Amino acid sequence: MPDQMIRTESLRKSFGDVHALKGVDLEVEPATVFGLLGPNGAGKTTTVRILTTLLAPDEGRAEVAGFDVVRDAEPLRHVIGLAGQSAAVDENLTGLENIEMVGRLYHLAAPEARRRAVEILGRFELSEAAHRTAKTYSGGMRRRLDLCASLVGRPTVLFLDEPTTGLDPRSRIEMWEIIRELQNEGTTILLTTQYLDEADRLADRIAVIDVGRVIAEGTPTELKMRVGGEVLAIRVVDRSRVGEAAGQVLGLGPGGGSVDNNTGEITVPVGDQGPAILTEAVRRLDRAGVALADIALRRPTLDDVFMALTGHAAEEGDQPKENGKRGRRRRRG
Ligand SMILES: Nc1ncnc2c1ncn2[C@@H]1O[C@H](COP(=O)(O)OP(=O)(O)O)[C@@H](O)[C@H]1O
Ligand SMILES: [Mg+2]
Repeated sequence: MPDQMIRTESLRKSFGDVHALKGVDLEVEPATVFGLLGPNGAGKTTTVRILTTLLAPDEGRAEVAGFDVVRDAEPLRHVIGLAGQSAAVDENLTGLENIEMVGRLYHLAAPEARRRAVEILGRFELSEAAHRTAKTYSGGMRRRLDLCASLVGRPTVLFLDEPTTGLDPRSRIEMWEIIRELQNEGTTILLTTQYLDEADRLADRIAVIDVGRVIAEGTPTELKMRVGGEVLAIRVVDRSRVGEAAGQVLGLGPGGGSVDNNTGEITVPVGDQGPAILTEAVRRLDRAGVALADIALRRPTLDDVFMALTGHAAEEGDQPKENGKRGRRRRRG
């Protein structure tokens, strides 16, 4: 087994004028979950497509499970699985037929393909729906079916491209449980996500990617430390007084803070001083006569991480080509 199950060196990829990857270096140890965290357009899918041999890099190199993604593309395909946003599900086939078909693509004999399909569908609670066409499936069921398809070949390395984007909270938690189980069985997983909380829960290590570059890498705890623990989020009733309110509270935490010009939300990293800083903020704003619409301590989001790492908010790439309407809230200015 290679020391690193995934290793990339200075990966670059452009689409015309769009520099999707500007030199990406990653290392993923066996049997771990690695989170590639970044906003829309950051280069997550491009990275995944290169690592799964669907796209060739312009420059740099990458190995997965010891295979070079370009030179050894053919044998590599036998040891990887890919599931993602653009579900590879045929709407007009039943769940069972979908998975059987994938088995046949892996050259399994018909009875073996059927046996494997029944087993995998059972494992992901799709047995009852196995004989219904996929178009009758809910979003969560479709995503699970897509994941089933990616597991037919018993991959050593599994790529999950935003496996929970667009899912309802319950399906999202189910997906998290499945990912953890797969990791416990020894599968190496590279997971892309736009959500810090998801990477936080699932990933052993996280790389934060922004417009084609890795801007930070570490354990979830290390990354959150860079933000400074929790964040105090404040909204005032009168939007014209946001600046005044910010003036009162931005100096309270160990590391400044920021104002979202779109929503008027003021955020202050508070480290482990949350309750004390919250109390002081309320006191000051009350003294200044600024009415509060909302004030709360929360865990840092991807936005907060970006703000702490780059001093600017996460911006979408030039032309986000997928998921525009499900995109994260944007913060500009
Ligand atoms: N096939 C393509 N043609 C042109 N531009 C592309 C193509 N694929 C991706 N891009 C661009 O490359 C950048 C990175 O995209 P992508 O890897 O899909 O980001 P993410 O998955 O993080 O949202 C974006 O600016 C996107 O518009
Ligand atoms: Mg993507």
